[in-house]
Amino acid sequence: MAERKYETALVTGASSGLGRGLALWFARRGTRVFAAARRKDHLQTLAEEARAAGGTVEPVEMDISRTDETIARIQRIDADCGGLELVVANAGVGHNTNGKRFDWERVKQVLDVNVQGTAATLGAVLPQMVERKRGHLVGISSIAAFRGLPRNAAYSGSKAFLAIFLESLRVDLRGTGVRVTCIHPGFVRTEMTAPNKHPMPFMLEPEDAAERMGRAILRGVPVFSFPWQTRAAMGVAQALPNAVFDPLMRKLR
Ligand SMILES: NC(=O)c1ccc[n+]([C@@H]2O[C@H](COP(=O)([O-])OP(=O)(O)OC[C@H]3O[C@@H](n4cnc5c(N)ncnc54)[C@H](OP(=O)(O)O)[C@@H]3O)[C@@H](O)[C@H]2O)c1
Repeated sequence: MAERKYETALVTGASSGLGRGLALWFARRGTRVFAAARRKDHLQTLAEEARAAGGTVEPVEMDISRTDETIARIQRIDADCGGLELVVANAGVGHNTNGKRFDWERVKQVLDVNVQGTAATLGAVLPQMVERKRGHLVGISSIAAFRGLPRNAAYSGSKAFLAIFLESLRVDLRGTGVRVTCIHPGFVRTEMTAPNKHPMPFMLEPEDAAERMGRAILRGVPVFSFPWQTRAAMGVAQALPNAVFDPLMRKLR
């Protein structure tokens, strides 16, 4: 697939971690990046860092769980900038949700952001992209999408939703000029993984992850899982029968 260069991009969850890394990565390559999140001070620091590197990052204070506001805001940005070429739905929360102490409020928080907010972000200007015959939707799923991981019913479920949502969109959008990419990162050192006590093999730094994801996006790869070691391990996990998978997961966690 031919590599694209993007004039404009929206990256959600850009105040920290992977989204911050990706926003900077694209800004350094000359893309005008609209960086969205709730923590405006973090976005302003990011904008200054981008400016120092000769790039442009514009902070957008936005809570994607407020889906109507999110859609309206992205549509305004799209109209004002002459059309978003790339939308990266990266914002996410990773709260544990232990099935033994099921807590609907906690589950709902994950679904509001990772499912509703993400779907709203991806669809906000999709009709406009189809009309323009140009655009690229990217969703940051996870290796957690490949099997239901312990204490992660909401998170694993939300990331599996995103992977299948994007796959259907990819089929629908074939031939329209709008590309679709689903990314499944393994463990990356960010605020989200900082509290984890369990082993996180093949952990990457956010800059390394942003470099890998940025290149995959420019190539228009439909599905990108990294690093390969984690993807391979999840491939094995997917092949395991439940009678082996269930006790193994309990032991590992
Ligand atoms: N780190 C990993 O190992 C890993 C692995 C696989 C997949 N992922 C996925 O990668 C994405 C980024 O995660 P990360 O590791 O970089 O975590 P992170 O550092 O905690 O970043 C999460 C980002 O999402 C934003 N966010 C959370 N709730 C939001 C809301 N309601 N509205 C708008 N923005 C919101 C946060 O910004 P504010 O708090 O400022 O709003 C923050 O910028 C997530 O979707 C995560 O599931 C991460």
